[in-house]
Amino acid sequence: MDKKRVLSGMRPTGKLHLGNHFGALSNWLKLQSSDPGCFYMVADWHALTTDYADTSNVESNAGEMVLDWLAQGLDPKKSVLFRQSWVAEHAELALILSMITPLSWLERNPTYKEQMNELKDRDISTHGFLGYPVLQAADILLYHASHVPVGEDQLPHLELTREIARRFNHIYKKQVLKEPQAILSNTPKVPGTDGRKMSKSYDNCVYLADEEPVLKKKINSMYTDPQKIRADDPGHPLPCPENPPGCVVFALHKIYGRPETLGPREADCRSGALGCVACKKDLFESMNNALGPAREKRRSLEKEKDLVRSILSDGSKKARETASRTVEEIRRAVRFESEGGR
Ligand code: TRP
Repeated sequence: MDKKRVLSGMRPTGKLHLGNHFGALSNWLKLQSSDPGCFYMVADWHALTTDYADTSNVESNAGEMVLDWLAQGLDPKKSVLFRQSWVAEHAELALILSMITPLSWLERNPTYKEQMNELKDRDISTHGFLGYPVLQAADILLYHASHVPVGEDQLPHLELTREIARRFNHIYKKQVLKEPQAILSNTPKVPGTDGRKMSKSYDNCVYLADEEPVLKKKINSMYTDPQKIRADDPGHPLPCPENPPGCVVFALHKIYGRPETLGPREADCRSGALGCVACKKDLFESMNNALGPAREKRRSLEKEKDLVRSILSDGSKKARETASRTVEEIRRAVRFESEGGR
């Protein structure tokens, strides 16, 4: 097996939804047996970049998110699970990298422009928010990560990380920082219940931890082909680009159903033999079977007081060991010896 040093992080947004799962977490799980191993991080300082004015939820959101990580199978014995703000080296490296990162690189970052337009309810024209990718680069470069499993939206940040690493090595004439590679998920994008991108801000999410009745209700309210109103309607005429077009239920059958049932399901939908109500019932069965075990596990983990805290605390200690070694290398390259170092 080729060597992989993996690092990734998620902002503490609370309970994870299916988009979070298929966007990144499913790859985090697959990579867990990599050698020399994985670092997975609660990116709480990144939450501060947009939510600095109200930090009251950061702690509980982090707790909910980590419970989902554990319930899905992230194992603190295999991977280092830690909290960014407990490893101060992230801030130190971010500071140094900020010195060599041209402003123009940050200003042209597409996620920066997008968020400036979207988050109109707060003032994010701050130094910290513009520097978001510098902090992310520090997260990755501190661990000499070779691979970073992320959602597609993070690709511009990965590219910036590579550029920053290259610039550092060039300026200080040393190959200190390693250029990482992204690992993207191969599951197609999961639509939200209304057919738009699944996102907390659209209120259209199915959460991994949704209890049975909630899941059932959400599936029943899912958007289906608007041309299929009665059960025996044949739906959208052929040919159409998607099969059936824009139907969220079918998109989820593709993920959760057995592959050999998809062809017949589509044929029955189109011929009018299968109505949306029955089709949704089937989907509930498949999804409930798939999501049930982790939901159970989460319920029992919830009862263990201080579990998340102690896992993150142990993990942060391990993360600090690696991070502080890298910071020494960086300080040497920049010729800023640490106080006790030589
Ligand atoms: N920016 C990432 C997101 O919003 C979270 C993140 C922070 C991250 N630091 C990282 C992802 C380092 C990968 C590597 O999803």
